[in-house]
Amino acid sequence: MTAAEPDWLDLRRPVDDAARQKSLHLIDHAVARLSAEAESDEKRLLAIDIGAGTGNSALWFDAALRARLPDWELNWILLDSDQASLDYAAAALPHARPICAPIAGLPTLSSELLAASEFHGSRLLLTCSALLDVLTETDLTAVVRSLDDHDGLGLFLLSIVDGWELDPDHPSDAVIDAAFTAHQHRDGRLGHHAPERLMDLARRHGLTAVEGPSPWRLAAPADRTFLNRFLSERLDAAVDERPGLSAVAEDWWTQRQKQLGSGLSVRVDHLDVLIDAVGRACERETPTVRAITTPTGTETT
Ligand SMILES: C[S@@+](CC[C@H](N)C(=O)[O-])C[C@H]1O[C@@H](n2cnc3c(N)ncnc32)[C@H](O)[C@@H]1O
Repeated sequence: MTAAEPDWLDLRRPVDDAARQKSLHLIDHAVARLSAEAESDEKRLLAIDIGAGTGNSALWFDAALRARLPDWELNWILLDSDQASLDYAAAALPHARPICAPIAGLPTLSSELLAASEFHGSRLLLTCSALLDVLTETDLTAVVRSLDDHDGLGLFLLSIVDGWELDPDHPSDAVIDAAFTAHQHRDGRLGHHAPERLMDLARRHGLTAVEGPSPWRLAAPADRTFLNRFLSERLDAAVDERPGLSAVAEDWWTQRQKQLGSGLSVRVDHLDVLIDAVGRACERETPTVRAITTPTGTETT
């Protein structure tokens, strides 16, 4: 696991916040589900932001949820395996509890937290942003198991998928993209397959999965500082994966730097995923009522 640089996370915050405007329909879906199922005395939510980093994603989720669930008690856990990032996160969200641990331990952690008297009766909500691509099959299994065990909801936003488009294009875009994509799969990481894999695993457990796009849309020169960092880091990763690309990369970078001053549009595709185990729990608790037509009229079963 490699921690993200705090200054990079701050640079991407307004760009992520803009992209997450497209994620609001999934927040609304989760809120509608919680509101429909809650008894009046059971409006408590235990939200765990996994891969919380310096807290920017939890701040966004917190604002979006509080605006929509004003009469709910909302408790935050910030989970990350990098203590230095969590130190920043704890300062940004003083009401949250930071926990330094790997995502693979989530089933045990969520069970322990929900059993604690302070969170008694809470619904479980897992959140994350800009995380899934670095996770492994073991991590995703832990995520789905936690939702399955506790009939929870999961909001997994801004996951990289296969696709970014630059205008104007360059003859080496495809080869650089292929090397970057291969780099994303190093050490067993699921890379851009992670959101699909997460939905597959969830559906196999009988949970509902809903998806939606949330691309970054960037344009230089206005987004020059962000694009300079973003493109140079993608290029470094591509050359790290395929050192033979260094000459191609040099030419590509010279052209791109000129365009950062004169005009360049970049679209980076992301996928958002909502996993809903609450509905499955309700179906278990309430026998399905089906209307069937018989020769003598309509009956219910
Ligand atoms: C790209 S950062 C995103 C941070 C934050 N969600 C945001 O949007 O600003 C990914 C974070 O996930 C954490 N992380 C990655 N893999 C992890 C794992 N297996 N267990 C716990 N934390 C992990 C990293 O330490 C890093 O802080």
